[in-house]
Amino acid sequence: MIAAAKTETPATRLDLASDAMAENPWPQLHQLREQGPVVWHETLNRWLITTDHDTRKMLIDFGRFTVEGTSVEDLFGSDAFISMDDRKRHDQLRNVWADAFRARGLAALQPQVQAIVARLMALVVERLRDGETADLSAGVCRPLPTMVIALLMGIPEEAIPDIVRWSDAMAAPVTYLAEAQAIAVRSTREAAKSGLAAYLQSLITARRKQAGDDLVSTLVHSEPGRQLSDPQMVQNLRQLLFAGNETTAKFLAQIFVVYGERPEIRRVLAADRSLITAANDEVMRWQPTVGTVVRRVRGGPIEVGGVVLAEGDDITCLIGSANRDPTRYADPDTYDLHRPPQPNLGFGVGFHNCLGSMLAKMEAELAIGALLDAVPEFTVAAPYRYSSLSLRGPLPVMVARDHG
Ligand code: HEM
Repeated sequence: MIAAAKTETPATRLDLASDAMAENPWPQLHQLREQGPVVWHETLNRWLITTDHDTRKMLIDFGRFTVEGTSVEDLFGSDAFISMDDRKRHDQLRNVWADAFRARGLAALQPQVQAIVARLMALVVERLRDGETADLSAGVCRPLPTMVIALLMGIPEEAIPDIVRWSDAMAAPVTYLAEAQAIAVRSTREAAKSGLAAYLQSLITARRKQAGDDLVSTLVHSEPGRQLSDPQMVQNLRQLLFAGNETTAKFLAQIFVVYGERPEIRRVLAADRSLITAANDEVMRWQPTVGTVVRRVRGGPIEVGGVVLAEGDDITCLIGSANRDPTRYADPDTYDLHRPPQPNLGFGVGFHNCLGSMLAKMEAELAIGALLDAVPEFTVAAPYRYSSLSLRGPLPVMVARDHG
């Protein structure tokens, strides 16, 4: 195909930060995909990638599509491995923690996560059994991932409210906001980043003196860790602490909503727990939490989907669109529990793929399993709203016992 110039390509001015895009982005994403695999956003000055094929291509080709210089670097800092395209350096740092997030490490962690789930779920279940409604977002979805990552990092429970506060402020989306709004959000975000950095610095200092069985100590006393300055170490720890917090909370919320609204699926899962893994994967495909992933073109012009992208061009991969790409998924707008298994892009792909995906999946399976054990007939009891397109989940998640 002959590559088109920017002025000749499909274009849009769609407000990606609107409430409508957060609530129900699917018709608009469908329309963008119909326009083409690569669509120019005239006001954001960036390319939107709409297909599964082209999104995969970009996320895998780190030589041509870099994270460096994007909003990822702005949020996490250039010394966090999530922002690095120097594969060797990235892998050295990521590998320091990789074992903890693989099957064996997680199997050892599972009983402790199960105990946290049981503790959090007990209060919810008590209310439901008393015939009251319960807030799963505040009771389970939000605290669970923070308590789990705190456990892994050896952070004491009394610090958790601060961690949640800093992490929530860091999660406020800025990428698609008007400049005036973005400035205000950015300043709150920077204050949160500094607060968290100071706290993490105190952990580094303590673990340097006395190592514990936790991921801060693992980094501090590792060979790659010893080569980092303290501010560089803080960036890597902050990334680890933050990346799995809001994301997992929103994924859990989405799972409870999908099953709470679908008694037929809830019943199948309650009867056959072996289906939960695939059922949760389908939630991630159908309603991905991370709706946008950004990159920048590096190393000269490159043709993608019939369009020439120039050096330095900014790119947003629309994961929500890719995950509903009809060339990959039959009947993509339908939640299908029995869909043939195919990896979707909800946890990314390529060497920046999610380090904590198996942990997030484990938390989700234990949480839904615990609720199905105690109150299999739960239902969504109040309206909810979606947060944003880029980090998307329903809030609040109020549930009740379904007497229907
Ligand atoms: C449902 C929950 C989660 C979702 C949807 C999610 C999604 C993602 C996505 C899409 C990426 C790729 C970003 C890119 O390519 O630019 C990513 C990377 C990452 N995630 Fe997650 N994530 C989740 C949970 C977690 C958890 C629990 C942790 C750790 C405790 C974690 C740690 C990371 C890290 C460190 C990276 C960067 C990996 C690298 O650059 O090598 N995530 N995540």
